[in-house]
Amino acid sequence: MKYSYLSLFFILLSCFQFTTCFAQDKKIEDKVEALLAKMTLKEKIGQMNQLNGRMPSEKLYQQIRNGEVGSILNAENPELVNQLQKIAKEESTLGIPLVIARDVIHGFKTIFPIPLGQAASFDPEIVEIGSQIAAREAYEKGIRWTFAPMMDIARDSRWGRIAESFGEDTYLSEIMAVAMVKGFQGKDLSNPASIAACAKHFIAYGAAEGGRDYNLTNITQRQLRNFYLPPFEKAIREAGCATLMTSFNANDGIPASGNEFLLRTVLRKEWGFDGVVVTDYNSIRDMVRIGFSEDNKDAAMKAANAGVDMEMASGTYLQNMEALIAEGKVEQKTIDDAVRNILRLKYRLGLFENPYVNLKVKSSIYSENHLQAAKKAAEESFVLLKNKNNLLPLKNTIKTIAIIGPMADASHDQMGTWAFDGEKGMTQTPLKALQKQYGKDVKFIYEQGLAFSRDNNKTNFSKAIEVAKQADVVLLFLGEEAILSGEAHSLAEINLKGAQSQLLEELSKTRKPVVTMIMAGRALTIEKETALSDAVLYLWHPGTMGGPAVADILFGKAVPSGKLPITFPKYAGQIPVYYNHDKIGRPAKKTEILLNDIPLEAKQSSLGTTSYYLDAAFDNLFDFGYGLSYTTFEYSNLSLSTDVLSKSDILTVTVDLKNTGKFQANEVVQLYTSDLVGSIARPIKELKDFRRINLKPGESKKVAFKLPVSKLAFWNINNIQTVEPGKFTLMVGGNSYDVLQKDFTVAP
Ligand code: GLC
Repeated sequence: MKYSYLSLFFILLSCFQFTTCFAQDKKIEDKVEALLAKMTLKEKIGQMNQLNGRMPSEKLYQQIRNGEVGSILNAENPELVNQLQKIAKEESTLGIPLVIARDVIHGFKTIFPIPLGQAASFDPEIVEIGSQIAAREAYEKGIRWTFAPMMDIARDSRWGRIAESFGEDTYLSEIMAVAMVKGFQGKDLSNPASIAACAKHFIAYGAAEGGRDYNLTNITQRQLRNFYLPPFEKAIREAGCATLMTSFNANDGIPASGNEFLLRTVLRKEWGFDGVVVTDYNSIRDMVRIGFSEDNKDAAMKAANAGVDMEMASGTYLQNMEALIAEGKVEQKTIDDAVRNILRLKYRLGLFENPYVNLKVKSSIYSENHLQAAKKAAEESFVLLKNKNNLLPLKNTIKTIAIIGPMADASHDQMGTWAFDGEKGMTQTPLKALQKQYGKDVKFIYEQGLAFSRDNNKTNFSKAIEVAKQADVVLLFLGEEAILSGEAHSLAEINLKGAQSQLLEELSKTRKPVVTMIMAGRALTIEKETALSDAVLYLWHPGTMGGPAVADILFGKAVPSGKLPITFPKYAGQIPVYYNHDKIGRPAKKTEILLNDIPLEAKQSSLGTTSYYLDAAFDNLFDFGYGLSYTTFEYSNLSLSTDVLSKSDILTVTVDLKNTGKFQANEVVQLYTSDLVGSIARPIKELKDFRRINLKPGESKKVAFKLPVSKLAFWNINNIQTVEPGKFTLMVGGNSYDVLQKDFTVAP
């Protein structure tokens, strides 16, 4: 067979790249072994110890001198970093550099939308760009390791950390996790502006019972395999994520930091992970409180034997590991393997060659292209939930606009949770952006109405109503302060707090059109508020550039394209809610009898025997994948390349998409499959692919997907990952329920 010169060139190039990469790895391994051979047991244990650099002290400096510290978190001051590295390099016996870590979750100084909002963009490119920018800004301050991306599957908005997740869907979380890891790590960890990423929190932390943070979880092995583990596997095997963090929760009674099956069998043996496993903060000590260990020494032993390389903050390794080795409770090899992983990370990061921060580098922090990328990410994260009579985008006949609400000018809260290094003074709020960008054409009148999201003081309602009466349209900014979102911030009720809902109610009585915009880190139960509003735009916590993004969306310079990455329940009592739930034996019907329709002395079985709430039916407020645009899209001609496939085939799917409205816009075309019968109950549908398609008004496009049958594999009744032959339904649409569908069969 004749090879073209070009294909020959690419074959040679990939061989060269493989050889170089292999040679590089070999060089690093040789260095790791050479250094390991010089280390005392105490120095090895020191590398496994990560301490908080929040309050640097002589004690900390001495510990570094003694070789008792491998990593420091929360030392994001470049002068301090250089001071600590100097001590490590010049005053300790072996001069092993520290690796400096920080939670750079959705931006460092330029804050991007919270990860839940970034997931709503369904745009992995913008997510990768955002993480690249975060890495570049963090690198300037000496940070070489971020504790992100968080890729916990989250189905419960009572859990404050849903804000940090990519939502309820496994496939979307995989795509976003891979994008973020690539953004943080770049092509080579030793490049300036590349920092090590961290897949967290391993595992099932988002399934905390009751949505109460740190609570126990009870996710079966099979569910772990089918829903919770895949994002971690992809982040490691596709994007080469350099580190992983064990979670606080005990799953099925076993704390993540003591789970040998997950950390050794799955992570190391099955996935070939050669990075660093770090615990979450103090989570080894938590194993004592959980009753999994009798004391810190026992906890340290179980964590080390389970496969934890580095301990964050709790110091049990430093205090107990020498004794555990001497007593034969932990083997020397266990320590050596852990230290190999840590030294390998430091070599890959180039820390031995250059541990210091270049204080003279021209800063890229808040550069225009960083800010513009953050604005684009915010625009793409917004989800248009309602737009009655096409109120949006605002027409040029509108001359006076009332801006009202506690989140209109909330420069701190707009950044959301885990915006550690963001600066409120740099936040561009909707109020300021609207006045700056559109104040020449429109008269804006501002009245906060409420001072903050939990405010119950209605004193200023009358002023807000007065302002609304003078306006052609009301822009109402509601939501939740950042402190109500994030770690340890669980809510039993996920309604709008304070008197926010009453404020909307009073404003709606003016009969002026109301655009309600909500900044939040979770789904809120906003059925009533949606009904009272003419338009509803969900902004999540949009970050530094949320204001300019909102302004351009409201005036039509940008068009909303976001889709919900989580299901919105009507009531907290419905939770957990998620679209890809297994089929059940008695699904609800549309015609269920509800509370107020039940006749007096109704007979026991007169209401039927299906799965719904007498007081809430069974449907959600908004479903996964839902989001409106200013234009409309028509789907037609769904076609499959064949309707019978073998397990090794690739199914080609095409669908015609037409922009049938007046605005050029992006549509997220979603592809779902349903496995009709399996050796276990299967989800009613699962997202398998999506495309962001941009169309001009009137333009049509044939959208094509390639679906390998192997993507239909799942962990079955025998806990084997396989595609089971049988009937499938394939669905394509702009959300998870309004779809075109076709059946196909996978042959045995
Ligand atoms: C926190 C969080 C974790 C974070 C770590 C370091 O408790 O659970 O996500 O990375 O501690 O701040």
